[in-house]
Amino acid sequence: MTATAAPALAPDLEAALRRLKLAAVRRLAPEVLVTARTQRWPPEDLLRTLLEAELGARDASNARARLRAAEFPVRKTLEEFRVAESSIPRATFDYLASLEWIRARENLCLVGPAGTGKSHSLIALGHAAVEAGFRVRYFAAASLVEALYRGLADNSVGRLIESLLRADLVICDDLGFAPLDDTGAQLLFRFVAAAYERRSLGVASHWPFESWGRFLPEHTTAVALLDRLLHHSVVVVTSGDSYRMKEARARGGGPTALP
Ligand SMILES: Nc1ncnc2c1ncn2[C@@H]1O[C@H](COP(=O)(O)OP(=O)(O)OP(=O)(O)O)[C@@H](O)[C@H]1O
Ligand SMILES: [Mg+2]
Repeated sequence: MTATAAPALAPDLEAALRRLKLAAVRRLAPEVLVTARTQRWPPEDLLRTLLEAELGARDASNARARLRAAEFPVRKTLEEFRVAESSIPRATFDYLASLEWIRARENLCLVGPAGTGKSHSLIALGHAAVEAGFRVRYFAAASLVEALYRGLADNSVGRLIESLLRADLVICDDLGFAPLDDTGAQLLFRFVAAAYERRSLGVASHWPFESWGRFLPEHTTAVALLDRLLHHSVVVVTSGDSYRMKEARARGGGPTALP
């Protein structure tokens, strides 16, 4: 095979490429040099091939790092999402999948009952955004508020919020599962206000907006938070039976099969 037959790079080249951290060039150069020589490539083609390989490897490694940093709890993709079986209109889904809303710093709010694809859509869109080069950070709402609370304890809330908003999209899933106390609600408001018109937020809750007072204790805070969240936002109201139940029934399990 050419790979094994290709002579090793000269030690000075090897050292220079190592020092410049051009790992892909270093790995591929011996073989590419042989090909370039035997096929009499124009010198430009040699340079282009090696640089493209390096750029490709870096893009892939950056995407892997962004995916780790996003901290998605599971892997979900847009391809796996059956739009026709969901209550999300196709046109809305296509707009969301275009990721235009992230470029426009719009928010996405999904509200609807359990198992109707809110988390799936958020995570799959987040995943697509990572692949498109955006920085994304996923939180369950409770973890986000906990992190903000910790920031409050050591006086670093402002810095924490700024660091979270380095992401192009921050996802806050399961908002309203647990009620927030006054401080929690104010911290969440501070976060939403800081993100307003600067970054995209993706929020999912099983509470319709008019019921957000149930987990945001103070009426003014709830109103001000919703005002900012919804000003530039795609709102998706999901409905229908839980997909989990449908799948469980299709497998012959689920509550219908319980004694
Ligand atoms: N339209 C769909 N196509 C494919 N899979 C779906 C669809 N809707 C939901 N699912 C799957 O059903 C399960 C439940 O969906 P998901 O977690 O998104 O629900 P949810 O609306 O976030 O519910 P909850 O309010 O309980 O968190 C997941 O495994 C998800 O992948
Ligand atoms: Mg969910």
